Amino acid sequence: MQLLKEKVLEEGIVLSEQVLKVDAFLNHQVDPSLMSAIGKEFVSRFSGETITKVLTIESSGIAPALMTAAHLNVPLIYARKQKSLTLKEDIYVKKVYSFTKQVASDLTVAKKFITPDDRVLIIDDFLAHGEAALGLAHIIRQADAELAGIGIVIEKAFQNGGKRLKDAGFRVESLVRIASLENQRVQFAEDYIEREKINYATSV
Ligand code: G4P
Repeated sequence: MQLLKEKVLEEGIVLSEQVLKVDAFLNHQVDPSLMSAIGKEFVSRFSGETITKVLTIESSGIAPALMTAAHLNVPLIYARKQKSLTLKEDIYVKKVYSFTKQVASDLTVAKKFITPDDRVLIIDDFLAHGEAALGLAHIIRQADAELAGIGIVIEKAFQNGGKRLKDAGFRVESLVRIASLENQRVQFAEDYIEREKINYATSV
């Protein structure tokens, strides 16, 4: 997604070889027109799928997931990471561990919001090691609902989340894929492949 790539290059800050800061448009301040474009893009990528609900995790997944749900005209559910005062009824719970933040949390969703006749689209802001998406997929399975696919705003393709999700048989659509954050610059996966091709072509 070209618009998102430009935003990442203009406003993203490479904090380390593992972490990209995007708090100017996604993780703290949110760009609504970009989120709307992101929602439309997910709808177009999953246009062949029946989707009855969108599922994400608080907090940074909510903005892109909400816009996707709005364009699909279906409800958005966000899994809680902390126990809510009011979430006392029957709940699905799945423990996930964040390698990036080095904390474990209990993803929690009220049973009444996902039922066996649902086809659920997972949306999240970042894909790193795949723990969050696998945790949400587990909750969908607990509910006997179907997973329609997984939409990711920014995939860090140098980490193993994409492979884990594809190996598990899930359809994953990432709007941008980052191949590397080395040397304090963002290298997108497609450009990386293009460059490798050019290097190969000029070397033979
Ligand atoms: P995983 O689910 O793919 O395994 O990812 P991981 O546990 O490693 O990371 C989970 C949390 O860290 C998520 O936030 C995710 O958005 C964030 N994260 C991972 N990599 C990056 C990165 O390069 N840059 C930024 N800005 N965030 C990253 P969270 O715990 O759900 O918190 P929240 O910010 O959504 O509240």
